[in-house]
Amino acid sequence: MSADNVAAASRINVDLGERSYEILIGGGLLEQAGEMIQSLRPGAKCAIITDETVASYHLAALEASLTDAGIKSQAIILQPGEATKSFTQLQSVVEGLLAQRIERADLVIAFGGGVIGDLAGFAASILRRGVDFIQIPTSLLAQVDSSVGGKTGINSPYGKNLIGAFHQPLLVLCDTDVLQTLEPRQFRAGYAEVAKYGLIRDNAFVTWLEENRHALFDLDPAALTEAIRFSCAMKARVVHEDEKEHGVRALLNLGHTFGHAFESLTGYGDRLLHGEAISIGMVMAFAFSEELGHCPAGRSDTVAKHFKAVGLPTTLSDIPAHEELTLDAVVDKMSQDKKVERGTLVFILAHEIGDAFISRDVSPTVLRDFLERQF
Ligand code: GLY
Repeated sequence: MSADNVAAASRINVDLGERSYEILIGGGLLEQAGEMIQSLRPGAKCAIITDETVASYHLAALEASLTDAGIKSQAIILQPGEATKSFTQLQSVVEGLLAQRIERADLVIAFGGGVIGDLAGFAASILRRGVDFIQIPTSLLAQVDSSVGGKTGINSPYGKNLIGAFHQPLLVLCDTDVLQTLEPRQFRAGYAEVAKYGLIRDNAFVTWLEENRHALFDLDPAALTEAIRFSCAMKARVVHEDEKEHGVRALLNLGHTFGHAFESLTGYGDRLLHGEAISIGMVMAFAFSEELGHCPAGRSDTVAKHFKAVGLPTTLSDIPAHEELTLDAVVDKMSQDKKVERGTLVFILAHEIGDAFISRDVSPTVLRDFLERQF
């Protein structure tokens, strides 16, 4: 696979019967959004949900594209950051949509990163018992993961994404041009989710990432398109196999049970971004796999080296003010995760880099002993 010989735009189908949809990946898609939406849902009015940062860079371009296609739209602009995924903001968005008289035949456009996609998608899922929505993800993380697959929701003090619904979008538009304005730290955090696909199921992709890392971080359009295409194609396959996460979809949570606990304990803020938390979590998942005898020794070091090379955190001590985190608090948060089944933790472990599996027999005592040694 070479970054140089990839077509500028790619198209992936998420095959879910009557809920199937396409993901388009490439440059210049924002400018074409209006035309595409008009042919998908002629006559629909659109409510754009976005945040202040994305709005300042890209809202005018999206609005112009909608206007040119004869689509009426109004924007709801929220504060950027994970704290926006709250009940308070959900209420204000849903009431904002009602005030705009968004009806079932209309559309909600989630225009932003993972926070906006999750919140706007959830709002659309409960508005008038379900309104269709379109994802136009503007962060790498959202383009490769959260905008695809229909998971929507908000956070609770009890944990991340604990309140939500499965609500598939009608279309996903991943415009690689918008990544040019993404903060480098946010890009790095999104990269953790890209690498996750290789770590789970495809060692060759991990090698490709190593070979093309510089092109990716230089925002080379062909490298970006290929990394996003590969990630979305794998996600589409997994979601097709297991839409509601009764089985294989749980693999996509590699590193997330550890990561969600750290995010929750650091307040879902700038102190630790989601991608940073799961970078640490994925290294820990490999270390835990080694300790349990599932995976050859040294693999967690290899994964840590990969993430360190791009500037991602890999250990608990990389978390700012990590001294405030206690073993009891981490264990408690992990037991609240959605991946708990009747009190047993469901863990994603690995036999190898590129070969993750779902484990349902992790003993809480063994987990606690492992975690104690991470402090
Ligand atoms: N981000 C994991 C999933 O969508 O299943």
